[in-house]
Amino acid sequence: MSDTFAASPARLRGTALGAIFASVALRRGIAVACTALLVLEKLVAVLLPLIFVKLLAQGTQGAQGELAPSMLLLALFCAAGVAVVCLSEYREVRFLSILQNAQKALVQQALAAFHRKPQAFFAAHASPELTRAVNRAAWSVDAIFSIGFFNILPTVLQVLFACGVLWVHLSALHAALLLLMVGLLVSMTYRSVNTQQALYRERIREDNRINAVLADSLVNAETVRAFGGIGFELERLSARQARLDVAWRRQQTQLSAGKCAQASLIQLSQFVLLGATVLASTGTGIGTAELGVGLVMVSMYVAQVFGPLESVGLLYSSFTHAFIDLRELDALTRDAPPAPEAKAAADAPEAPEAPAPAPLQAQCVSVAVDGKTLLDAVSLRLPARGKIALVGPTGSGKTTLARALTGMGPLSAGRLLLNDVPATPETMLRHALYVSQTTGLFDDTLEYNIGYGNREVQAAQLGAAVERAQLASMLKEREAGLASPCGELGARLSGGERQRIAVARALLNARPVMVFDEITAQLDAVTETAIFAALDRLAQDALVVHVTHHLEMVADAERIFCFAGGRLAEQGTHDELMRNRGGYAALWDARMQALGVRPLLGKAA
Ligand SMILES: Nc1ncnc2c1ncn2[C@@H]1O[C@H](COP(=O)(O)OP(=O)(O)OP(=O)(O)O)[C@@H](O)[C@H]1O
Ligand SMILES: [Mg+2]
Repeated sequence: MSDTFAASPARLRGTALGAIFASVALRRGIAVACTALLVLEKLVAVLLPLIFVKLLAQGTQGAQGELAPSMLLLALFCAAGVAVVCLSEYREVRFLSILQNAQKALVQQALAAFHRKPQAFFAAHASPELTRAVNRAAWSVDAIFSIGFFNILPTVLQVLFACGVLWVHLSALHAALLLLMVGLLVSMTYRSVNTQQALYRERIREDNRINAVLADSLVNAETVRAFGGIGFELERLSARQARLDVAWRRQQTQLSAGKCAQASLIQLSQFVLLGATVLASTGTGIGTAELGVGLVMVSMYVAQVFGPLESVGLLYSSFTHAFIDLRELDALTRDAPPAPEAKAAADAPEAPEAPAPAPLQAQCVSVAVDGKTLLDAVSLRLPARGKIALVGPTGSGKTTLARALTGMGPLSAGRLLLNDVPATPETMLRHALYVSQTTGLFDDTLEYNIGYGNREVQAAQLGAAVERAQLASMLKEREAGLASPCGELGARLSGGERQRIAVARALLNARPVMVFDEITAQLDAVTETAIFAALDRLAQDALVVHVTHHLEMVADAERIFCFAGGRLAEQGTHDELMRNRGGYAALWDARMQALGVRPLLGKAA
C-alpha cells in the first residue's frame, strides 16, 4: 500500500500539489483520524489553564483539610499535559505514511516528467539543478503538512477555543480583543511574507546553481586532478557563493525587520489584554485574589495563543517557501507548448504501430537550434532492411540526423515517413533505437546496464548478447561477473568496455531501425571487426544505420550518405562515390593514409 505510486508512469502527471492531495485522498481514513486527534489534543490543551485557575482558586480560598481535591486537580493538570504530548506524537506516527506517500509520488512524478522533456530542456538545465529542485519540493511536503496541518490549523483552533473560554469566564471584550490582536498579527505576517517571496526565489536559484557547480566539479574530478585545477574550482564556487550571500542577506534583513515588528505587536497585545482585565476590575469591588486569578488566566491564554503565533511568522514563511518550492518544480516539470513544426508533425495522421521492418524516408528535414541551422533540408530514403552508412567530416550533422530519424531530436521542418505514412517522433521512438556516441551507463551492475530496457530478457539471451558484443572475456575476468558494479557513468570500465555494453544492450532491445553512432570508436580493430560482423547479421532483419568515421567498416554498405555542413552532399555505394571523386573519396583517401595504406587500396582499387 505504501508503494501505491511506484512504477506507474501513466498516472504520474499533474502538479506537485495534486500529487500531495492524491496521497491524502488515498489514505483519507488516516487523515480523518489524525484531524480528530488534533481537535482532541487542542481541547485538552485549552482545558489546562481552566484546571490551573481552579487549582489557584482553591488555594486562595485557603480551605483547610481539603487537600484531596487540590491534589486531584493537580494530578489532572499534569495528566492533561502528558496527554497533549502523547496525542500529538501518536498523530505524527499515524500520519507518517501519508507524508511518505506524498513525497514518493512527488519525486516519481517529477522524474517521469523530466524524462518526457526534449533534449533542449537538458541543455538548459544542469541535472544537479533539477535534483536540487526535486529535493527541495520533497522536503516542502513535510513543511506543508507539519506547518499547515499540524501548526496553522491547530493554532486557529486554539485561538477559537481560547476566545470561547475568555468570553465565558471573563468577558466578550476579552474575546474580541484577543481576536483583534490575532487578526492584526496575521495580516502583518502575511504582508511581510509576501514581500519575502521574490527574495526567497532569488536565493534558491543561487543555491541551485551552487549545487550545479559542485556536481560539475566532482564529475570532472579526473580533469581537476590532471590540470591541478582545485584553485579554478574554488574560484568558480566562491563567485557563485558570493551571489548567494547577497541574495540571502537581503532576505534575512527583511525577515528580521518583520520579526521585530511582530514581537512589538505581541507585547502590545499582552499589554492590551492584561490592561483590560485590570481596568475591568477597578471600581467593581473585585478582590486582589480574584484579579490575580483573572490575570493568570489571561496570561496563560496569551502565552498559549501567541506562543505559536510568534513562531507563525517563521512558520508561515516556511509554509510559503514550501509552496514556492512546489511551484518552482511545477514550472520545471510543466510540458512546454509544442513548437509549430512539432505540432504539425503531431497533427499528421499517425502511422500504424509497425514493429515490422518498413522503409523509412526523410523529406526536407531541417533542424535548427537557437537560430543556427544544424541540418538543412535533408531528404533520403532508406530500405526496410540492410546496412546503411552516414558519413562526413566532424560537425557535418550526422548525429543530428541520426537523432531526428529515431525520434530522439526535434525536427524544425520537414517530416519522416514510415512505410510512406507520416510518422511522429513518438512513433519513431517506438520503431527505432538510437545507440549513442556517448554510452549512457547507470551506476549499477553490468547486468542492469546490459539488460536495460528489456524486462523479459532471459539469462540465455543475455549470454548470447554478451558473446556477440565481445564481452565474454571481460566478464570472466570479473569475480562478480554480471553483478560487478559499473561505477558512476561507467567509471569502473574502459572506454571500449562501455561501448561493448552499449552494443549488447542494443542487441537485447532490437527494433526495426537500429542506428549506431560511433559505437566502435574506442575499440581495437579485431574487436571492432567482430562487432560489425554481429551487426551485419542484425541487418538481415532490420535496417542498420552506422554513423562512423571508420569508412573501411561501412564500405560494403548498401548505400552511403555523405554529409557536409549540415547538408546531404552525395549518396551512393562505395564504388559509385569513389568514382564521383567528391567529398567521400577525399575522406576515404585521408582515412586510408591514416591507416598507413596507400589510397585506393582495398575495394576501391
Ligand atoms: N544542442 C546543440 N546546440 C547547438 N549546436 C549544436 C547542438 N548539437 C549539435 N550542435 C552543432 O551542430 C553541428 C552538427 O553536430 P553533429 O553532432 O550532428 O555533428 P556530427 O556530424 O555528428 O559530428 P561528429 O562526427 O564530430 O560526431 C555541430 O556544429 C555542432 O556544434
Ligand atoms: Mg556525431
